[in-house]
Amino acid sequence: MDHFQYRNGELYAEDVALSRLAAEIGTPFFCYSTATLERHYQVFADAVSGLDASICYAVKANSNVAVIATLARLGAGADVVSGGEMKRALIAGVTPNRIVFSGVGKTREELAEALKAGVTRINVESEPELEILSEVAASLGIAAEISIRINPDVDAKTHEKITTGKSENKFGIDLAVARDVYARAATMPGLEVCGVAVHIGSQLTDLAPYREAYVRTAAFVEGLRQDGHDIRHVDLGGGLGIRYDDEEVPSPAEYGAMVTETVSHLNCPVTFEPGRVIAGNAGVLVSRVLFVKEGLAKNFCIVDAAMNDLIRPTLYNAYHEIVPVIEAPKGHADINMDIVGPICESGDYIAKDRMMAPVDADDLLAVRTAGAYAAVMASTYNTRPLAPEVLVNGNTFEVIRRRFTVDDMIDLETIPDWLSSDPPLRAGGTG
Ligand code: LLP
Repeated sequence: MDHFQYRNGELYAEDVALSRLAAEIGTPFFCYSTATLERHYQVFADAVSGLDASICYAVKANSNVAVIATLARLGAGADVVSGGEMKRALIAGVTPNRIVFSGVGKTREELAEALKAGVTRINVESEPELEILSEVAASLGIAAEISIRINPDVDAKTHEKITTGKSENKFGIDLAVARDVYARAATMPGLEVCGVAVHIGSQLTDLAPYREAYVRTAAFVEGLRQDGHDIRHVDLGGGLGIRYDDEEVPSPAEYGAMVTETVSHLNCPVTFEPGRVIAGNAGVLVSRVLFVKEGLAKNFCIVDAAMNDLIRPTLYNAYHEIVPVIEAPKGHADINMDIVGPICESGDYIAKDRMMAPVDADDLLAVRTAGAYAAVMASTYNTRPLAPEVLVNGNTFEVIRRRFTVDDMIDLETIPDWLSSDPPLRAGGTG
C-alpha cells in the first residue's frame, strides 16, 4: 500500500496535491512519501522480527539524504557501495557501526576512509580486495570485520542486467573456492573474519532461487564453523521484488518466513539489505504533457520527463504505471500511446504501446514506482538539468534536492586558454 491516492479526482501524495507541487516547483519532479517509506520499512521489519535482524537499507535505491534520514530514524542501518554513499549515510545520521560497505570495486582510499570513519563491516568480493583491505586495515591498526560475499551460482530469474548470483556474474567469490579464501583471510593481518554475505539479484519475484541460495549459504556457514571460523553473522542481501504492473510478488512476510526456515538454525544475527521494497513504491515522477502527436503508425504523448530522468524502461524494458494527476472522466475510452520524452533517441520512452485515457497538452502525469532506481540513475543527457526531489510528510513538503540549472552543469566545464581567443584561420582544409 502506498500513500499516493486520488481525492475528489485528484492525485495526492499523502495530504498534498501533486498539482500544487507541480505549480510551485515546476515539472518534471520526483515526489516521495514519508508515510509510505515508513510503512514499507515497518512491514519489512515486522516480517523479520522473529530473527535477530538488522536492516541496512540499500542506499543505492534512493540515496537522497532526507530519504536515508527518514529510515535511519526508524532504526535502519545502511548498505553502501561507494565512499559517496557512505558519506550520505553518515550525514543522514546512520551510526558507523550500522553501515555495511559492499561492492565489487572498492578503492584503497575508500576502504581507508571507511575504516577511519568507524565503518568496519566490510563485505569483501574478491581475493585482491582482501589483500588491499588487510594492508589498509593493518596500517591503520584497525580490525576490519569482514564477511566474504559468496556467489552461490543460483539463477535469480530476474532481468539479466540485475542478476548477480550466477558464477558468470562479476559478484562474490565462487562457493567452490570460498572455503580456501576464508582459510587465507583468517591468517591475514587487519582482518577479523566474522560473517558470510550473499545477494543474488534484484526484483526477485520468486522465492525459490532465494531459498536455494540461502540453503547453500547456511550449509556453507556450517562448514566454515567446522573449520574453526567464528562466523557470527550472515548478510542475506536485498532483492525482494515489488509490483510494478500486475506481477505476483512474494510479500515481505512470506520472504521472512522462508528466511526463518533456511537460516534460523545458525543462531546468529542476520543482516538484510532491502532497497527497492522500501523505496520503490514510495515515489512518483511527475511530468507534464508537452504535445500530443498523432503519427501515421502511432500516437505519441511527448512529456517533459525523459530517459535521463527515468532510464529503467529503456534499460531493462521495465514497466512503470502511468496515471493522470487529474483523474480521467468515468466512461472514457482508453487509447494506445507511446509516452516519450524530448531526448533525441528512439530509446527515449517511459512507456510503449500503453492503453491510457486520452491526454492533452499541459496535463500532468504521474509515473508510479519511481522511488527506487530512478532519480539515482538520472543523467544530464541532452543538457537536461537533474529533476528536483520533493519529500511529503502529511500536509507538509520540502524540496530535498533542488532542480539543477543549466549553469550548474556548464560551470563545471572550462574552455582551455588555447580556445579562448579568436579562432586561428587554418591553412588548408577540405575546400
Ligand atoms: N545488496 C546488494 C549487494 C545489491 O547489489 C543490491 C542491489 C541490493 C542490496 C538492493 O537490492 P534491492 O532490494 O533494491 O533489489 N538499477 C536496477 C537495480 C539494481 C540493483 C543493484 N543491486 C533497477 O532499476 O532495477
